[in-house]
Amino acid sequence: MSVINVAILGFGTVGQGVCEAIETHQDRLKEALGKEVKVRAILIKDPTKKREINPSIKVTTEFKDILEIPDLHVIFEAIVGEEPCYTYLSEAIEKGIHIVTANKAMFAKYGPDLLEKALNHGVSVGFEATTAGGIPVIGTIRQLIKVNEIRSIQGILNGTSNFILSQMRKQGLSFEAALKQSQEKGYAEADPTSDIEGYDAFYKLLILSQTAFGRQPEWKDVRRKGITHLTAEWLQAAESFRLRFKHVGSLERDGFNRIKGEVKPILVHDTHPFYGVEDVENAVSLKGSLVGRVTLLGPGAGKRPTGSAMVEDFLSLIQGKYTDSPESTVHNEEIREGSSGQWVLRVRANEEYQSWITLFTLKDRIQLGSHLYVFVEGKKEDIEALLQSQEQIQAVSILDEIPLENEVKEGVAVY
Ligand SMILES: NC(=O)c1ccc[n+]([C@@H]2O[C@H](COP(=O)([O-])OP(=O)(O)OC[C@H]3O[C@@H](n4cnc5c(N)ncnc54)[C@H](OP(=O)(O)O)[C@@H]3O)[C@@H](O)[C@H]2O)c1
Repeated sequence: MSVINVAILGFGTVGQGVCEAIETHQDRLKEALGKEVKVRAILIKDPTKKREINPSIKVTTEFKDILEIPDLHVIFEAIVGEEPCYTYLSEAIEKGIHIVTANKAMFAKYGPDLLEKALNHGVSVGFEATTAGGIPVIGTIRQLIKVNEIRSIQGILNGTSNFILSQMRKQGLSFEAALKQSQEKGYAEADPTSDIEGYDAFYKLLILSQTAFGRQPEWKDVRRKGITHLTAEWLQAAESFRLRFKHVGSLERDGFNRIKGEVKPILVHDTHPFYGVEDVENAVSLKGSLVGRVTLLGPGAGKRPTGSAMVEDFLSLIQGKYTDSPESTVHNEEIREGSSGQWVLRVRANEEYQSWITLFTLKDRIQLGSHLYVFVEGKKEDIEALLQSQEQIQAVSILDEIPLENEVKEGVAVY
């Protein structure tokens, strides 16, 4: 039986997950590919670390050793940071080697360039594991866009921040205490900035945009807000309105083919599929022109789910299932007037609010501690004017539901 030769860059959580997945699922791979998959070499940084690696696999700190492997078909990349990963993967592509990466920070920035290089060299790039770990969201989008146009995407893309928000709400913990708990459980890094300030979700959102729309919004135009300003009291207040805070990345393409992206804490109704997405779980909900709403939930990280995503990706790539996704266009009649919505406002209890509340429809209110929480419905423009004129007020919008089916209002299709 002929062999598919592969190498793995990095042997941390993800690199080990890939190696184990290939080892434990060799029979299934053989059945699917008609070939044996052999890990020939692993690239690491620190040669003094003790590791359990099959002695038939070469372990090296030199990338040139990897490139010198005869008939190397695929490189799995599971290192951290932009460089030297981008350089390594560029060199691999130029040698005609397929790549499968889990590295979102690198891929958000260099993905378009690597995809173009790959196209020019007749190889493929798998990047399923960069976004939402074990959830097959990239593959789903790649499949859907063969016929559908994707119009919007929403996602809980960072398991650590979702865990922190869940613990704050369930146990009434402060942000700091919940962060400490997530570090003790090994979810958050020693430096958790990327998770709690929304950078990790931002990178994943850009990769989703690249996949669904063939391009990314300008990075500077994507609003990014983390979760550090939220309090247990805010979360409790939302719960009493049957709403929950989730840290959500959203992408929307308008009728002029502009892509609007943002990452921020947002409220979701108990009717929304994200409401029950708890702890380290991730979720992605997208809307296609034919299919309507598709929501995927599952593990957003970890050795096995990420290893699974990379090996699945590898299989699709070897089977030639990946085709390039050209930029797709959107038609003008799809313009959506999104000026109405719902918000929860947090106001100091002694603030005079009767004068401005008439601008909105009051749905509910509660007092917690020294703050009043007001659940309102109204125009986005009015909320924006209010926030500019009343600095004591904070407002959080409620995530738009993506309707399951297109509604028809006054003869206009509303998506
Ligand atoms: N952890 C997850 O659940 C998860 C999920 C999805 C995506 N990802 C992404 O996958 C990548 C790997 O994450 P991880 O959690 O596996 O990280 P990790 O546990 O910290 O492992 C990183 C590995 O990369 C090696 N490495 C780092 N710099 C290197 C260099 N310059 N040359 C060679 N090897 C180098 C390290 O070598 P030493 O062992 O010698 O130190 C280590 O084996 C990251 O980009 C991450 O964002 C992770």
